[in-house]
Amino acid sequence: MQDSQGISVDELMKNSEIEKVIGRDSREMIERRAYVPLVCNVFHQPYTRLIPKDMYQFHFDREAQKSLPTIIGNVVQKVVGENAPDEAFEAIYGKQRNIGVVFSGGPAPGGHNVIAGVYDAAKKANPKNRVYGFLLGPEGIVENDVTEIDDELVDRYRNLGGFTMIKTGRTKIDTPKKMALSRETCQALNLSALVVVGGDDSNTNAAFLAQEMFKDNIQVIGVPKTIDGDIQVKDGQGRVLCAMSFGFHTAARSFANSVGNLCTDSSSDVKYWHICKVMGRVASHLALEVALQTHANITLIGEELADYTDNQRIQAAERSGETDYLAYGITLRHLSRVICDGIVRRAAFGKSYGVIVIPEGILEFVNEIQVFIIKLSTIIAEYNKTHDSDFHTAYPVLEGKLEFLRRLARRSKEEGRIAVWNRRDDDLFNDIPEFFQEGLLMERDSHGNFQFSQVETDKVVMGLVKDYLNILKEKGVYKVGIDQDVYRKSMAKGGLDPDLYGKAIFRNYPDDKFLMVKKSIISIKTLKQALLRAGLIKKSDDIPAPVEKMYRKSVPKFKTQAHFYGYDGRGNNPTRFDCNYTYNLGLTVFSLIANGSTGQMAGIKNLEKDFALWEPIGIPIAPLMHLEERKGKLALVIEKSVVDIHSTAFQAAKASREKWLAAGPAEDDYRCPGPIRFAGKSEENRPITLVLNAIKTAPENSDR
Ligand code: FBP
Repeated sequence: MQDSQGISVDELMKNSEIEKVIGRDSREMIERRAYVPLVCNVFHQPYTRLIPKDMYQFHFDREAQKSLPTIIGNVVQKVVGENAPDEAFEAIYGKQRNIGVVFSGGPAPGGHNVIAGVYDAAKKANPKNRVYGFLLGPEGIVENDVTEIDDELVDRYRNLGGFTMIKTGRTKIDTPKKMALSRETCQALNLSALVVVGGDDSNTNAAFLAQEMFKDNIQVIGVPKTIDGDIQVKDGQGRVLCAMSFGFHTAARSFANSVGNLCTDSSSDVKYWHICKVMGRVASHLALEVALQTHANITLIGEELADYTDNQRIQAAERSGETDYLAYGITLRHLSRVICDGIVRRAAFGKSYGVIVIPEGILEFVNEIQVFIIKLSTIIAEYNKTHDSDFHTAYPVLEGKLEFLRRLARRSKEEGRIAVWNRRDDDLFNDIPEFFQEGLLMERDSHGNFQFSQVETDKVVMGLVKDYLNILKEKGVYKVGIDQDVYRKSMAKGGLDPDLYGKAIFRNYPDDKFLMVKKSIISIKTLKQALLRAGLIKKSDDIPAPVEKMYRKSVPKFKTQAHFYGYDGRGNNPTRFDCNYTYNLGLTVFSLIANGSTGQMAGIKNLEKDFALWEPIGIPIAPLMHLEERKGKLALVIEKSVVDIHSTAFQAAKASREKWLAAGPAEDDYRCPGPIRFAGKSEENRPITLVLNAIKTAPENSDR
């Protein structure tokens, strides 16, 4: 094919200008690769040492003491610089090492910089050190699927998002066979250390690997990764050691940018409620940060809902000498009422639009859903234990699963015994929409977590909201307020007396700026009856056009647009905060390795403060563990950190709730955070949640 000037397309494509414009390397990527992250002071020294910090104490779980005897005694270690070590130290620090790195779980922006930090520090200590990347997550360890990381590879991914360099996966090394294969791989590669970059479950796995490979002299170090922000570590006295996992800031800023843009659109077009589900499997940290960044009208925080108590129900039960356990914690029905309340109140001021933020894991905090999740996990675990085949293989389709549950319920009735699944459970379960039943019965992930990202949480909640709004509409409670100026203008145009009609139609005429149609007027028919009663028209008359127009304006149309913010933000290029944080985590990892640690997690203390105050540390993993229900059984896992409803960040959001709902004549309070910028003064340098929480925690958080 030739163009009009006779140059072939092939020739054209060789033009360097074209390659520059449409080549893979955007200007953003080129600039990012060239960025040199800030480095904590200690890493400017030729060597680093670790100082044990016994002041940080933990409460141990008995099971952790039993299962992880070698690493349970680990303490917090502070990384310090060393200029002039003795020969013995120098020899150990600089000995040739092979280090393996694996990404585990969902991607989080900044992972590549962890590798870059480990790589740079390892090469600085001894250019013969080798760094290997296991491919596709822990599966790569089990299968010995590995690539050696070199200058070219590491430079290609500096400061870039994703885990593209070596990919990731969710395999759990949880059987003696997988453990043995992993050991074989590490031995075959002659690894001195394995670095597990992962969330709570992956760091749990790292602790077990550390225990297992201790006898092989293979150190295992964890790195706190997850956009969910649910790895936050405090010691037994509540002193913050790791304020936030990496990737959280970037994901939250990315979601906030999109949600902020929706706030702008919805307040321009004034016709949609945007329902934004944001990732966060259990904890609502991301939703809280998005709320603080955007001031969306309604943000649900799961942890707050779990704390809800229905005092009316409690008192009613007390009066009849009973205890109503369902009154503690929120129900789906009550949750939908909370949302409806905000929608109805905004509508009264003419605002039939807005933005709602729903955390992906909200249902985990709802009473009846939590009960279903636990019961179903137990039933499935029990089935798998007593049958040869796995429950999901035996019952691949929903109908089969439901029939199995029905049989359980029937049996419990026939046998007249207390069972995990009874008729009441079955009836309640059959009441919920099919797609949600399917979601609740879905296979758990390899760590036994409920896969909330696969469930249309927002659809469940908003389905109930729509139903209740219709009831409120029929009751005449849900109406759009009419601006009195608009009403008067319209009446004047039609030659009608606004006062005469106003008193007949509105319940608050002429007192308020926004006029509410009387509760009894819920149709054209009831409107006509009101006008007849007031003697404003005769039976044979039509309703005057301006009056009908005002009435129609007052009828709410609840139009929604659903959005899911998760994978997009997870793939975003890291903020400068995450670039610097992760690079220093990588440097910390090497310090821990070179100083002989194992079963520790790299951390940076004082993240909430200026960079100059950041302190690289090693955090013992074993004391962070506790027993938790997974796949119907108790398992030792790192405790997830959920939103603390007493924290400054949550309290600030709660105190701003009315302002952000903006159910009044004033303008909305939306805040537009804008996109992530890599340079420039407008880039906020750390999560708002951290900054706010530090206001309270700062004085007790210093060991200087
Ligand atoms: P990690 O805990 O592994 O970091 O992953 C968190 C997360 O992004 C959650 O927010 C989300 O629920 C889940 O991963 C989605 O999982 P998947 O990638 O398997 O769909």
